[in-house]
Amino acid sequence: MSEVKIEGEKQLHGTVKVNGAKNATLPIMAAALLTEGRTVLDRVPRLTDVRTLGIILDALGLSVERSNEHTLELKIEDEKNCECPHKHAISMRAGICVLGPLLAKRGYARVPLPGGCVLGDRPVDLHLKGLRAMGAEIKQRGGYIIASADKLKGNRIYLGGPHGSTVLGTANILMAATLAEGVTLIEHAATEPEICDLANYLKKCGASITGAGTHTIEVEGVQQLEGCLHHIIPDRIEAGTFACAVAIAGGDIILKDARADHMAALRDVMEYMGVNFEIGSKIIRVRREGPLKATDCTALPYPGLPTDMQPQLLSVLTTAMGTSVLTDSVYPERFTHIGELARLGADIVRQGPQAVIRGPASLSGAYVQASDLRGGAALILAGLGSEGETVVTGIEHVDRGYERLDEKLTALGAKIVRKGAPPFQAGQLQLPFHKQAG
Ligand code: EPU
Repeated sequence: MSEVKIEGEKQLHGTVKVNGAKNATLPIMAAALLTEGRTVLDRVPRLTDVRTLGIILDALGLSVERSNEHTLELKIEDEKNCECPHKHAISMRAGICVLGPLLAKRGYARVPLPGGCVLGDRPVDLHLKGLRAMGAEIKQRGGYIIASADKLKGNRIYLGGPHGSTVLGTANILMAATLAEGVTLIEHAATEPEICDLANYLKKCGASITGAGTHTIEVEGVQQLEGCLHHIIPDRIEAGTFACAVAIAGGDIILKDARADHMAALRDVMEYMGVNFEIGSKIIRVRREGPLKATDCTALPYPGLPTDMQPQLLSVLTTAMGTSVLTDSVYPERFTHIGELARLGADIVRQGPQAVIRGPASLSGAYVQASDLRGGAALILAGLGSEGETVVTGIEHVDRGYERLDEKLTALGAKIVRKGAPPFQAGQLQLPFHKQAG
């Protein structure tokens, strides 16, 4: 297990470059299954989730090569295998993204059911409902989704669920609809920027899509999609995580290549708390000088506060003056980090989908364990604000979605030492995915 050791209470100063978004990259990589030509994706972050999906796609006959540190080239070599490899698919939620493209392009898919995880139950009923409405026959056997369709047909599909829209469900139906016969109308579609990025990629490949970014997306199926060159949008969650790091540690940093328009809800909450944001062209300056004020807030689908920022914001709120209530209405169970934050001295009580935080806590370093991606980032941030030394284990969870978070924070003035090799060295290219050991 990898770990980092953090010596806390060091202010952050300097500039950090924000990478391309993980949650835009993964569905767009899967969407390349729909195409005939070559796709070149630029600003692809170096993450273990990207590598895992690359291995899955490689098994499905899509060659995936990193031609440059942040550039992937994808091209279909062979369309015979429609079975998603179990070992890799169950290790990440985004494996489900191959379902729509395989069904639309090859007429058959056998994909492992993603299970529940530390975020709580993560059903795929809305993905399956949408594909069935397009004429797919779907059964579940031996832990797999087995889906077939001679030719998918456009339909009107409502994708709202008990917790709002579904991001990857919208991605799956959107991708499937591009090659379906006729028109598909997706109602209560997710409006996340990552869905717009996927729609923009598909449009460049030749798809006919209107309404992405609103709750109603219309797709008119086409015969064939070509590949294209596409630049992945900046990662609003990585940028937000650095903003939270400054809020906890204090200091003054510049986020380079950040999209302020994708971060309005987070900025609103943090500005109220006393964090200063100055927006320039493709940069955001974030400063925190004085004490922070407590606040109440709720994670909601976009354009609301992202659930993927809830754990990091929870860490920040432990250091704010007064009592805060943080609710997660997207993943009401996403609170495994609370117990570990308590080891650092945080005063948090969980009440169903809400965390009640009494601050300011005087955090002091301890040994804590990350059990998921954003919860792990939240523990590193809390370590920055703790007196003395904090050790966070389970850093492989953090490597799934952040490219060298420890090194980037160190470059801003944090004192962090990593035990164990990082998954990727700066400047070093990865082997083609088919030559990598699992
Ligand atoms: N849901 C259903 N039925 C479904 C699908 C979802 O009830 O068929 C529920 C979920 O249980 C949840 C809510 O709907 O309560 C939203 O889930 P959604 O489907 O939107 O999540 P996702 O698409 O599987 C993506 C991101 C997550 C992010 C969520 C919400 C990727 C690869 N994952 O997951 O990212 O939290 O949207 O914004 O895009 C992360 O990056 O750390 C991460 C977990």
